[in-house]
Amino acid sequence: MKKKIVAANWKMNLTHKEVKPYLDRFLATVGEINEVQVVFIPSFTSIPAFADALEESPSFCELGAQDMHWEKEGAFTGEISAAMLQALQVKHVVIGHSERRQWFGESDEIVAKKTAAALQAGLHPIVCIGETLAERDGNRVEEVLERQLRKGLGDCSSRDLGSVVIAYEPVWAIGTGKTATAAQAQEAHAFIRSVLVSTFDPTTAEGVRIQYGGSVKPENARELMAQKDVDGALVGGACLNPESFARIVRCAEKRQPTSIT
Ligand code: PGA
Repeated sequence: MKKKIVAANWKMNLTHKEVKPYLDRFLATVGEINEVQVVFIPSFTSIPAFADALEESPSFCELGAQDMHWEKEGAFTGEISAAMLQALQVKHVVIGHSERRQWFGESDEIVAKKTAAALQAGLHPIVCIGETLAERDGNRVEEVLERQLRKGLGDCSSRDLGSVVIAYEPVWAIGTGKTATAAQAQEAHAFIRSVLVSTFDPTTAEGVRIQYGGSVKPENARELMAQKDVDGALVGGACLNPESFARIVRCAEKRQPTSIT
C-alpha cells in the first residue's frame, strides 16, 4: 500500500521565527497519523529551524526544499546545492514548480538537470507539471503533460523513478481559488500514470505517488484524495494556516477521529 504524501509549500511566506509556533499548532490539531507522509517545504532560511523542531516531532513529518541547483558546488551566487540541503536533514525537493517556470524561466531541460542531480544526491524530487488555461482550452493537456514528464524525467531509470513524486498542478488552479474537479484531477493523474507505465517498469510506475496541487483546501481535499490515482496533495495558500493544513492531512488518513472533521 502506498502512503499518501501531503506537502506544505510555504512559498515566499513566513520566517524562521514562525516555525515553532506553526508546528506546535499543526501537531496539536492533526492528531495521530499512520498512513500519511507529511512534508514541510519552507523557504531556505527557515529550514534550519524546521530541522531542529522536527527532531522532537513524530516521524511522519519530514522536511523539503522549494528548489536546488543542479551543480554540486561552485561559483553560482545565490544558489543552494543538494549537499547543503542534506546537511540540514532535507529529504525532498520541489523541482520545476510552475512559478519557477513562469517567473524564473525554468525550462524542461533545467528541470531534467535538477531532477537528475537530486536523485544522484539521494534526495526525493517532487517534479511539478501542469498545463496553463490556454493549453487546457486548446485541448493540449495531454500533449503538455507528456512533454513535461518525458523531458523533465530525462534519463531517469526505473530504479530512480521509485524515488520520484510527481505533482500535477494545473497552472490555472494555483493560487486562484479554482480547483480542478475531482474528475478532472483523476483524468490527468490517470494519463500521467499511463505515460509512466509505458515509459518505465510498469510495477514501479504504478507505485509512483502523484500529488494534486492547486487551491487544495480542507473543503475539497477529501474528494480529491479519494480518487484512484490521486496519492496526495501539494498545498500552497491553505497550508499557511497550520490548522487548515492539519485538516487537509487528516483527509488523507483513512481513520478519522470524531473530534476533527
Ligand atoms: P495553492 O498553491 O494551493 O496556493 O494553489 C499550490 C502550489 O503552488 O503548490
